[in-house]
Amino acid sequence: MANRRNFLHTSFFSGLGLFLYNKRFPAQPFSAAPQGQPVVISTWDAGLQANKAAWEILSNAGEAIDAVEKGVMVTEASQNCCVGLGANPDRDGFVTLDASIMDHRFNCGSVAFLERIKHPVSVARRVMEKTPHVMLVGEGAQQFAIAEGFTLEEPVLSPAAQKAYENWLKKSTYKSPLINVENKNGHGPFAPAKLEDGEWNHDTIGMVAMDARGNLSGSCTTSGAGFKMRGRVGDSPIIGAGLYVDNEVGACTATGQGEDVIRVAGSHAVIEKMRLGMDPEGACKSIIERIVKIKGEKVKDIQVAFLALDRRGRVGAFSIHPGFSYALRKEGVEALVKAPSWFL
Ligand code: GLY
Repeated sequence: MANRRNFLHTSFFSGLGLFLYNKRFPAQPFSAAPQGQPVVISTWDAGLQANKAAWEILSNAGEAIDAVEKGVMVTEASQNCCVGLGANPDRDGFVTLDASIMDHRFNCGSVAFLERIKHPVSVARRVMEKTPHVMLVGEGAQQFAIAEGFTLEEPVLSPAAQKAYENWLKKSTYKSPLINVENKNGHGPFAPAKLEDGEWNHDTIGMVAMDARGNLSGSCTTSGAGFKMRGRVGDSPIIGAGLYVDNEVGACTATGQGEDVIRVAGSHAVIEKMRLGMDPEGACKSIIERIVKIKGEKVKDIQVAFLALDRRGRVGAFSIHPGFSYALRKEGVEALVKAPSWFL
């Protein structure tokens, strides 16, 4: 009798436990798109080279997370104004780097205010894979990188970055840069700045991709605003601001004035619009409109752009000012696409 009572007691509570367990832990939302057609998109014209490296992986049945890391490493290793150790320094002359990465299972990692490391995106990936944390900054991030086998390198500024910094030092005025707004000279974002010193000096590479399994991932890496205050961190390493991935909806990255992307949790906000049924371009436009509303007249002085991919493989982008373009690569297509903008 005692045994029967024990048995009933145990069965009742284990049944209840199972019921509560099922209630508390719904199926995890990692499902991939039913048929993945690989696609990769990334910000600005530097994205064309970055996409090539990503496409090597995607077109050989590799994973999106590897593609987005290897892709932006190309830009980190190149000499340009705004990404990697050759990019514009802060106003005290130090190059400080921000980066993030996110996969299809909500795993994410980032580093900010990192110095003397060539590939911050790879350190971000190690943070994601080897620590219980999402973000490491400054000296701690550098110590972690060294412990992981990364070597310290002295930044060697690109000639354009060196010249821009020397020019900037003559006046040392601290103001928001005009970021990559198209001008009559038709400058591309990674061309030497010819505008007033320090006015047009900054941006980011953000990349999002879908692999053949239908899984999404994204990455984002930058030296941030040129001649920024020491310690300034932008949107790129902030998960939800410069980058967000939700495998059941899509992936989004941002470029431009980081402070104004952070204010609206930009990339996450775009994903939430897509969850409600908007296509990628409509979702990007809607969050640009939110920034325009918040900034009022000041929106004349800032550039922000969002670039998104949904789980069906549709892509879209939208910026405040004309001049933002993104690189697209998928089967049979390699293109630089001009994005629509709020100002015409
Ligand atoms: N979007 C890059 C930054 O503001 O740092």
